[in-house]
Amino acid sequence: MLPWCDSITLLERSAQNRRYLLGQRDGDDAHQRDGYDAHWDPFWKVLCGRKGYADLDDPRERFKKVVEDPIEGSLFELCGAKPGWDVGTMFFVAESITTSLEEFQRGVHCFMHALKPGAPFATAFMEHSQGYRVGDIEFPARDIDTNDVRTALGDFVESTVDIQRLHTSDLVRDGYTGMILARGRRKE
Ligand SMILES: C[S@@+](CC[C@H](N)C(=O)[O-])C[C@H]1O[C@@H](n2cnc3c(N)ncnc32)[C@H](O)[C@@H]1O
Repeated sequence: MLPWCDSITLLERSAQNRRYLLGQRDGDDAHQRDGYDAHWDPFWKVLCGRKGYADLDDPRERFKKVVEDPIEGSLFELCGAKPGWDVGTMFFVAESITTSLEEFQRGVHCFMHALKPGAPFATAFMEHSQGYRVGDIEFPARDIDTNDVRTALGDFVESTVDIQRLHTSDLVRDGYTGMILARGRRKE
């Protein structure tokens, strides 16, 4: 979003993760890091092959300028507010916080509800995730496929929506089969 947005809102439920996001924006003197970690640079390099991105001299400076302090809140609260955003992304959230199909669908609906009519969006999902473990804690997931994503997006999106399963044999962990990317526009 950096080349296109004057202001970027980060919504995050976890206090620890909000601290991480702030640190990625503001840097860390103790580790002599100015702005986000170097492991994000290869992603930026890929984007620079596209119009608009390579024109930004310093993405870290831009990140500092346009990213606001992360907001504490839940995806589900977005359903109660007026649609307010001109563009939005949601990566690995709605299917990775519940085992319930109904709750997964509600999460997708709330994300789509937050977008203004015509707003472009990108969302990514873990396919057939069985959940994951961090330390001693088991986190749930809803086992979904591309049809479930299409159904959840339903009437919220223009018919030109593009839903793809990414083809790669590299998995970031066990317990899922791939990633699904959906891109499109919120219906007018
Ligand atoms: C894989 S990360 C996604 C990071 C980033 N939010 C994005 O969309 O690219 C999933 C994040 O969702 C957060 N999360 C979990 N439940 C949430 C909820 N109900 N509302 C908002 N964020 C939530 C988790 O704390 C975690 O940091």
